[in-house]
Amino acid sequence: MTKLNKTAINLDASLREQLVALLNQRVGLLMDLYIQTKLAHWNVRGPHFIAYHELFDAIAGHLLEAQDSIAERAATLGGSAGMTVQDIAQDSPLTTWPMGTRQDHDVIGLLAERLGQVSNYIRQDIDSSTKLGDADTADLFTEVSRELDHDLWFLEAHL
Ligand SMILES: [Fe+2]
Repeated sequence: MTKLNKTAINLDASLREQLVALLNQRVGLLMDLYIQTKLAHWNVRGPHFIAYHELFDAIAGHLLEAQDSIAERAATLGGSAGMTVQDIAQDSPLTTWPMGTRQDHDVIGLLAERLGQVSNYIRQDIDSSTKLGDADTADLFTEVSRELDHDLWFLEAHL
């Protein structure tokens, strides 16, 4: 962990360190899910191709926005924001995307499973960041969790 930048934010440095570590871990998780969502966007095939292709791209866009807000919260708290690709690959709990999968319902099932996992991790983070005394980070995770749940509904409604 690199030294935190100075800030007038009145949260203890040890709490901020834990919050920054949690936030950065989610930056990595969202990047893994983003790439997997783009793989779905590029490779899906089936009679409703264009609907799925566009839905997956919209979801990918939401993931990037969420990731940016989470990374910027880490920077706001005085931390180094983000993770390297190498660290993301080691750290992410998501299962590797099976590259041969193209059939629409299979792709939606795999994506719903992964989006659901990420959404559930971030739901836990609401409580973790509340316990660390940071209602603002908890609020950010709440917003992201609600948006992910909404996208999950769009995927699950096809199954
Ligand atoms: Fe595209």
